[in-house]
Amino acid sequence: MILDTSDRSIAIAAAMLQAGRLVAMPTETVYGLAADASNADAVSRVFAAKGRPTNHPLIVHLPATAKLTQWASHVPDAADHLARAFWPGPLTMVLPRHASVLTAVTGGLGTVALRVPAHPAAQRLLHAFGGGLAAPSANRFGRVSPTTALAVDSELAGAVDAIIDGGPCEVGLESTIIAFVDGEATIVRPGAISPEALARVLGTRPRTAASSSVRAPGTLASHYAPATPLVLCSPDELARRAAFLVARGARVGVLSLERIEAPGVSVALDAGGDMGVLAHWLFSWLRLADKEDLDVLVVAMPPEEGIGLAIADRLRRAAHG
Ligand code: TXA
Ligand code: MG
Repeated sequence: MILDTSDRSIAIAAAMLQAGRLVAMPTETVYGLAADASNADAVSRVFAAKGRPTNHPLIVHLPATAKLTQWASHVPDAADHLARAFWPGPLTMVLPRHASVLTAVTGGLGTVALRVPAHPAAQRLLHAFGGGLAAPSANRFGRVSPTTALAVDSELAGAVDAIIDGGPCEVGLESTIIAFVDGEATIVRPGAISPEALARVLGTRPRTAASSSVRAPGTLASHYAPATPLVLCSPDELARRAAFLVARGARVGVLSLERIEAPGVSVALDAGGDMGVLAHWLFSWLRLADKEDLDVLVVAMPPEEGIGLAIADRLRRAAHG
């Protein structure tokens, strides 16, 4: 069932969630597959619907920052400052779990991932529901996260009880995840909230997973992958790489931040030089590559600054293997 964002539809969706059913909801990052985070049966259905290993923990979405202390046993000052600066918004914080949080949600970890999303429909749904909603991205395990209701439907048709169509997700990439472990902040997944933006609030630049042992279970080397093989290169190399593959008879697509001439390709995608536009469209374009039946998509890597860090991270995982 596809629902719109009318008050009536939001009320129906909230009632379904209270009854332990699964509802796909729009957020400003990507669509989430939501279930009552306090209902173990509902949470187990999320794992089944996605085909996701049960030791990969879920993010709990909250209506407001005030609920934080019901889910985290301790909130460091730094986390409190980040919540004030970035919530509601595309930031997830990993904090020590409250004793009442279900083991199924945290994958058995001593920590829990929490986020207050900004999308108006998600906000209204969370307020109508009242509690926390466990919501991984609404895709089959290992696949590209959906950024439209249609993409959710093609990923999870039949496995989800309702999909709320809140339009295309503004950001287009999953939230930045920051973990607070042993009093230190570590970015375990880059996203729209950049290390620079976090540093401005924290006063120091957070560590990255590369320089720390803290990990997000489930952020595998291969993830967010379309069926179409990707070739990653620098913008300078794109035209030559594409020409080589076209000459060998392949059906080639190209994807880049700035427009680059690549004669003979079947699909040419560019973000007009705007990194936010590239993030917004990236997952739709990876899906398009599959739909267009391309043999290969040649991608020019963006500069790895700001949201470009997150774009590059997702592209490497999409290309892995
Ligand atoms: O933007 C987003 O974050 C979206 C929307 C729906 O909110 N959600 C999302 O969920 O991307 P998911 O399940 O696809 O990714 C959640 C990531 C996983 O890589 C998981 O390992 C990590 O969060 N995570 C969850 N709990 C954690 C914990 N306690 N410690 C470390 N990482 C955790
Ligand atoms: Mg995911």
